[in-house]
Parts: sequence; structure tokens; C-alpha cells
Amino acid sequence: MKQTKRHTASIPRMAGVLGTAVIILFSVGCAETSMQANYLPDAGSQAAEIYNDNCGRCHVPPHPKRHTFAAWQDIISLMDRRIRERNMPAIGEEERKTILSYLKKHGR
Ligand code: HEC
Repeated sequence: MKQTKRHTASIPRMAGVLGTAVIILFSVGCAETSMQANYLPDAGSQAAEIYNDNCGRCHVPPHPKRHTFAAWQDIISLMDRRIRERNMPAIGEEERKTILSYLKKHGR
């Protein structure tokens, strides 16, 4: 049925718009927080903490299962750019390694 198809196709697009709105809302209140998101895998571990601290600076840290490891590598490059644009301190080398292995372990 054509109509059903067209209807369901608009749902992911809607979700994208909502996701962006959520990110913008969180960026507005972009305060430094030390509260670790407890939905993260291995919550409480040092890796989760480093991920939370670096990836929660501008928006809520996304769940690793949202992307494959390959996609995460591209996303991190994009995030590096967002960090530079805002003149924020870059992600440190050791922290980057920890974040990458965390996403490799827990990504889709
Ligand atoms: C300097 C602020 C900043 C930091 C730090 C940051 N992000 Fe982002 N992030 C953004 C902005 C702004 C967006 C909105 C999309 C865009 O402009 O690229 C975004 C969007 C995203 C998205 C959604 C992209 C999509 O599919 O729509 C993901 C996933 C993401 N960030 C992951 C991360 C991860 C992982 C880290 C830690 C390595 C991180 N972010 C750190 C600013 C940041």
C-alpha cells in the first residue's frame, strides 16, 4: 500500500528533527556537569566516565549502540571540528584512545 509506505517513511525524518531539537535544548544549558549518565554501558567505569566527560560537554552523551564503530570514527572527527569551532579544549590523546576502545566494545 503506497499510502502506508509514505506514512512510515516520514517517521525517521521526524525522529531526526526531534533529535536535533533535543541536542539544541541540551546545548543551551551546556554547563560542566560531573553527573555521569547512568544509561551508559559499564556506567561507573573509568572508560564510561571519560566518554561521559568528553562527549557530554555539549549534549547528552549518546548511547554507544546508536552507531557502528566505523560510524563512530567519522562522528568523532566531526565532533573534533565542533570542539575547534567553539575554541574548547581538544580531546586528549589518551582520552581519545579510551573513547575509541569504549565505542568499539559497546558500539553496534
Ligand atoms: C563542542 C561541542 C561538542 C562536543 C564536545 C561533542 N559534540 Fe557531538 N554534537 C555537537 C553538535 C553541535 C551536534 C549537532 C550536529 C552537528 O552540528 O554536527 C552534535 C551531534 C552529535 C551526534 C548526532 C549526530 C547525528 O547523527 O545526528 C552524535 C552521535 C554526537 N554528537 C556524538 C558525540 C560524541 C561521541 C562526542 C565525544 C567524542 C561528542 N559528540 C562531543 C557538539 C559536540
